[in-house]
Amino acid sequence: MKIESHDKFLQEQIEYYRLRANEYDEWFFRQSRYDRGPELNQRWFSEIENLRKAVDKFNPSGDILELACGTGIWTEYLLRFGGRITAVDAAPEVIAINRERTKSAGVKYLQADLFNWQPDKKYDVVFFAFWLSHVPPERFDSFWQVVAGALKPGGRVFFIDSRFEQTSTAKNHTLEKPDDTVVTRKLNDGQEFDIVKVFYQPAELEDKLRKTGWQITAAETPQYFLYGQGGRTS
Ligand SMILES: C[S@@+](CC[C@H](N)C(=O)[O-])C[C@H]1O[C@@H](n2cnc3c(N)ncnc32)[C@H](O)[C@@H]1O
Repeated sequence: MKIESHDKFLQEQIEYYRLRANEYDEWFFRQSRYDRGPELNQRWFSEIENLRKAVDKFNPSGDILELACGTGIWTEYLLRFGGRITAVDAAPEVIAINRERTKSAGVKYLQADLFNWQPDKKYDVVFFAFWLSHVPPERFDSFWQVVAGALKPGGRVFFIDSRFEQTSTAKNHTLEKPDDTVVTRKLNDGQEFDIVKVFYQPAELEDKLRKTGWQITAAETPQYFLYGQGGRTS
């Protein structure tokens, strides 16, 4: 079913990530409900390695804006490249974990709702991991306008996201159909939340973005991830 407006899910989405802050990393490190056994876990980590290699090649440097920075899994990685990072997220609880993880004066944190926020300066790189899928389809263009407005001339973007893959998520989550745009997520204590989750195909994403002045190259890892990079055409 096509949902015209996802606005009613946006506060619930923030609430979910605020309450999930202390258990968020279990997903990335394949622990407890996200542990899919040695073979699939191994595949996951090897595909994370592919993502890291792609980020290395992209070489994010200079002034970097990280949107929806979360607990800092990627903030920490971005610090390797020696840039100055501005990390934005709506959830103070994840920012606190991120700050503790990076312990770096090279990261400036901003607590903001990205659907009501405009950057106050321009950046060489805008980076976002596992965020685009949480942007409602009807806000796709306005989100990318914010990204465009955040870039210096010649600035570059890099993003990572999830592919539609049941074993990516917790054992007690269900992925119904690839074109659904809302999923139900559970916390460890069983509380349930409906949040936005949109899955893209690389070619579809490239085409969609080309129409609004982007030159983006998107690719997939074999099972779990989608990633893309590029900049403005004009
Ligand atoms: C899937 S997590 C990704 C976190 C991190 N980038 C990573 O890769 O681990 C999504 C993040 O978006 C944040 N978020 C949700 N809604 C938001 C909003 N409206 N504005 C800013 N951040 C938001 C959540 O707090 C959460 O940290």
